[in-house]
Amino acid sequence: MKQWVVAKHPKGLVKHTDFRLAEVPVPIPGDGEVLVKTLYLGVAPVMLRYMTNETSFERPLRIGDVMIGRGVGTVIESNSPAFKKGELIQTKLGWREYSIIKDDPYYMTYKMQSKDLSPSFGVGALGMNGFTALIGMQDICKVKAGDNVLVSGAAGSVGSMAGYVAKALGCGKLVGIAGGAEKCGLLLDKLGYDIALDYKQPGLYEKLDAHFSDGIDVFFDNVGGILLDEVLGRINRRARIAICGRISEYLIPPEEYHRPRNLYRIGLKDAKMEGFFVYDYQEHYAHYELQLAQWIREGKLIPLEDIGHGLDAMPEALISLYNGTNGGTRMVKVAP
Ligand SMILES: NC(=O)c1ccc[n+]([C@@H]2O[C@H](COP(=O)([O-])OP(=O)(O)OC[C@H]3O[C@@H](n4cnc5c(N)ncnc54)[C@H](OP(=O)(O)O)[C@@H]3O)[C@@H](O)[C@H]2O)c1
Repeated sequence: MKQWVVAKHPKGLVKHTDFRLAEVPVPIPGDGEVLVKTLYLGVAPVMLRYMTNETSFERPLRIGDVMIGRGVGTVIESNSPAFKKGELIQTKLGWREYSIIKDDPYYMTYKMQSKDLSPSFGVGALGMNGFTALIGMQDICKVKAGDNVLVSGAAGSVGSMAGYVAKALGCGKLVGIAGGAEKCGLLLDKLGYDIALDYKQPGLYEKLDAHFSDGIDVFFDNVGGILLDEVLGRINRRARIAICGRISEYLIPPEEYHRPRNLYRIGLKDAKMEGFFVYDYQEHYAHYELQLAQWIREGKLIPLEDIGHGLDAMPEALISLYNGTNGGTRMVKVAP
């Protein structure tokens, strides 16, 4: 079987040469272990920080280690009472065709319940990214009828679902920010946004003023930096801001992070701003999956998937998140 290992710790943007494809025998599960066949693997901006050992929640990656990543797979063989052959699970499979996992909290394994829906949804809408969109909009921002909602990184995996979740919760005006005309087209034609703003064109902040002359009630932020500061300058009383990510600052040193001028407006406007991490909400995953799956069946959430084919496509899939060529949830189909 094939697996991708780390060949170099990236400097700046991740490159193809930071990975090496290796051929190894399919592993044999020992006592308490489970053999899983990989069906789909997801990619996420945070993976670059796994490779540079910058996160507190992932084990350090050394040169030659199998690249870490979550995906959806089928249990092929189980020597653990916690798993049965044939079960469909989301877990930390790593970038390989077959994996060994254990019944251990490290893997954050989640058993998929919605068997009538595509297993690929386990990477996006019914996986960590869908849960992230729901946590931000529902649990943190508590979107309610009529709220003016803004989403940054709106055409990406989390952002593409955050808009649907806000609409399903009854929001009013829904505005998305994304890079380029094609992605803005996706926001309007496929992702249910009312207004799309291209941050790569001049005049973004004037456009925010024009479209939010009545202020912003909810901001779901994937980007951070100066954009967050500008939005703080436009919030309404009792606004809610979910800090989901800050991709604009993932590749720059801390001394270059934007220093916000408008933080005082949180107090001035009796607003709330909260960061969150999807792994801290594990006890709610089953409930989240049922809710999101129901919205999919009702047509209130139409997952946008951007699927590459074959394990060989993994490095390119990750690189696409940083050059912005993905639309919706970027993933790779490893096996039928
Ligand atoms: N809090 C949590 O638990 C949690 C969980 C999952 C993900 N996240 C965060 O959520 C965010 C989105 O993740 P995702 O997996 O859905 O990725 P994604 O949005 O599918 O892909 C990343 C997108 O970010 C945009 N981007 C890249 N560089 C940028 C820059 N310098 N400035 C502005 N935008 C830039 C690109 O879109 P454009 O072409 O539109 O620029 C790119 O397509 C990330 O910040 C991630 O870390 C947080």
